[in-house]
Amino acid sequence: MAIHLRSPEELGKMHRAGIIVWEVLTALRQFVRPGLTTMDLETFTGELIAGKPGHAAFKGYRGYPCALCTSVNSEIVHGIPSPKRKLREGDIVSIDFGMEMDGYYADSAVTVPVGEIRPELNKLLHVTREALDRAIDKMRAGNRLGDVGHAVQSWVEENGFTVVREFVGHGIGTRMHDEPNLPNYGEPGRGTRLQEGMVIAVEPMVNAGRPDVRMRDEWTAETADGSPSAHFEHTVAVTANGPWILTRPREVTGPAW
Ligand code: MF3
Ligand code: CO
Repeated sequence: MAIHLRSPEELGKMHRAGIIVWEVLTALRQFVRPGLTTMDLETFTGELIAGKPGHAAFKGYRGYPCALCTSVNSEIVHGIPSPKRKLREGDIVSIDFGMEMDGYYADSAVTVPVGEIRPELNKLLHVTREALDRAIDKMRAGNRLGDVGHAVQSWVEENGFTVVREFVGHGIGTRMHDEPNLPNYGEPGRGTRLQEGMVIAVEPMVNAGRPDVRMRDEWTAETADGSPSAHFEHTVAVTANGPWILTRPREVTGPAW
């Protein structure tokens, strides 16, 4: 199977979905506070998208039960919102959300501090967010996927953290997960060459401790050593003018999150 190259019209549809994803994540980020449960975030999301076009992409995907993934502290990705999971001061929570509109998908995630967090966690969030920025900057025609993965891995490891191997970024378009896979590690000059029109959900997952993963339940991936983990994601198109972050409005510039 080939990697799809999207037309400007298709990118426009993905951007419309992506703007809603950004609005939802931006509202959730401000909403997060100690005492809320991860199910409260899910409920708020339902209110935010009620009446909007399109639908939440994750709900029903391979039987996944919710619109959001909410992954707290040592949970890496795909945590399921629960009324029993209360957020406490000092936690971090990755909020991952996707929309489908008019047949096209957009997918994004942000890790949010709950109240005041300790300096080590601040550094983890900063390094992971910066890893996403560095990856996005490599999303240019002529570069290769290995350049993108290497940008993440080298920056993360220089900072004393590790990248998760078991989960990867992914092509996205008329399906949420499409070709190619984008590992958060790699060698410069290796792998598939990026071309105008390619769209990839770029999503570094960074552990403060060892890179190893274990499954807590059918969905929730957590660090094997219990160390905290962070996750930031944007849906990014390769264009003649460089990388285009589809999961935010055009007028928003600067750091990815
Ligand atoms: N951002 C997530 C991913 O790329 C979305 C999938 S969550 C699922 O893996 F629950 F829908 F599978
Ligand atoms: Co994704």
